[in-house]
Amino acid sequence: MSQNLSTVTCIEDLRVVAKRRVPRMFYDYADSGAWTEGTYRANESEFHKIKLRQRVAVNMDGRSLATTMAGIDVKMPVALAPTGLTGMQHADGEILAAQAAADFGVPFTLSTMSICSIEDVAQATQKPFWFQLYVMRDREFIGNLIDRAKAAGCSALVLTLDLQIMGQRHKDIKNGLSAPPKPTLRNMLNLAFKPRWCLGMLGTKRRTFGNIVGHAKGVTDLAALSSWTAEQFDPRLSWDDVAWIKERWGGKLILKGILDAEDARRAAATGADALIVSNHGGRQLDGALSTIEVLPSIVSEVGSQIEVWLDSGIRSGQDVLKAIALGARGTMVGRAFLYGLGAYGKAGVTRALEILYKEADVTMALCGRRNLAEVDTSILVPGTYPR
Ligand SMILES: Cc1cc2nc3c(=O)[nH]c(=O)nc-3n(C[C@H](O)[C@H](O)[C@H](O)COP(=O)(O)O)c2cc1C
Repeated sequence: MSQNLSTVTCIEDLRVVAKRRVPRMFYDYADSGAWTEGTYRANESEFHKIKLRQRVAVNMDGRSLATTMAGIDVKMPVALAPTGLTGMQHADGEILAAQAAADFGVPFTLSTMSICSIEDVAQATQKPFWFQLYVMRDREFIGNLIDRAKAAGCSALVLTLDLQIMGQRHKDIKNGLSAPPKPTLRNMLNLAFKPRWCLGMLGTKRRTFGNIVGHAKGVTDLAALSSWTAEQFDPRLSWDDVAWIKERWGGKLILKGILDAEDARRAAATGADALIVSNHGGRQLDGALSTIEVLPSIVSEVGSQIEVWLDSGIRSGQDVLKAIALGARGTMVGRAFLYGLGAYGKAGVTRALEILYKEADVTMALCGRRNLAEVDTSILVPGTYPR
């Protein structure tokens, strides 16, 4: 049964509708983690262990969640994380999510592995978005991608460091997720139950990796793309690469995928504008710690030199506020907006952002705070949060 958007009150509601509307292969691609999915689950469950201190009879009037992330004004400390294949959760997904984010007042990050290209998104939006870069073996292609992001007016480059090789996700293999997807009987039958999704896809020309096909050497069709992507993620990625990418880009640089205080020191030494404490949403090293557990150690190591942000496991505005309390200057959300997109397109992304905002605002108020400068560990119950 379809649910009216006005009765969608939490991110879980959006997930349930997305599961119904998005073909299984693409829904599972979003809603999965590596191997046992232990880290994927821990990202969420560790947030729940942290308890909040309720305060009363304090002035809660005139609240604001506004702040800056890497010097960019944001309505709340949340950016949309880069996610590959977003245009497969919903037709033209990257364009719709970028528009929703711009209208709401938070940044959108376009993945290297997006369906809509950098140029497509730039043409369909008025505000600058961010571009996420994966380092591929073909450095000429990478250089060109950086130039294309610059030409499109992207206001920050998010360089992902935790995917030199891919973590294994069982569901993707079992579902035959590849480029092109395997047309198994099960997949075809599943599509028959997703008419809304199929209609959307028939109505768009954007059905493959827009940043790659026609741009990377020898990749002119979907068949060539499959072997190209399998070979291209560069296992030799090093801190020297970060230096040349920083120089070639010349703008705001955000390093994504830091989970260790020693790596955080290296990241801060590059002179980047921010680092993101991330385990890729539990999609890479299963058995790694959740990001909220690691956050305080990284903040105490480099928080005075570089902005520290966090992603992975955020499903509510309370999670956002807990991350801020533990020293994050900003957060990113992946699945929280993907579920909205898969469920209701642009309106669903807007709803996801409204939900996160409302939850963060009410939580801040009930903790007796009026703005983010007042949010620190004093809103948390001692003994319940990681140090
Ligand atoms: C479906 C999906 C695709 C992703 N693709 C990318 C990607 O292309 N580049 C990247 O840097 N991170 C990618 N990520 C990781 C996200 O940027 C982010 O780190 C993660 O989603 C945060 O966890 P959350 O989904 O629990 O919020 C992806 C995550 C998901 C769920």
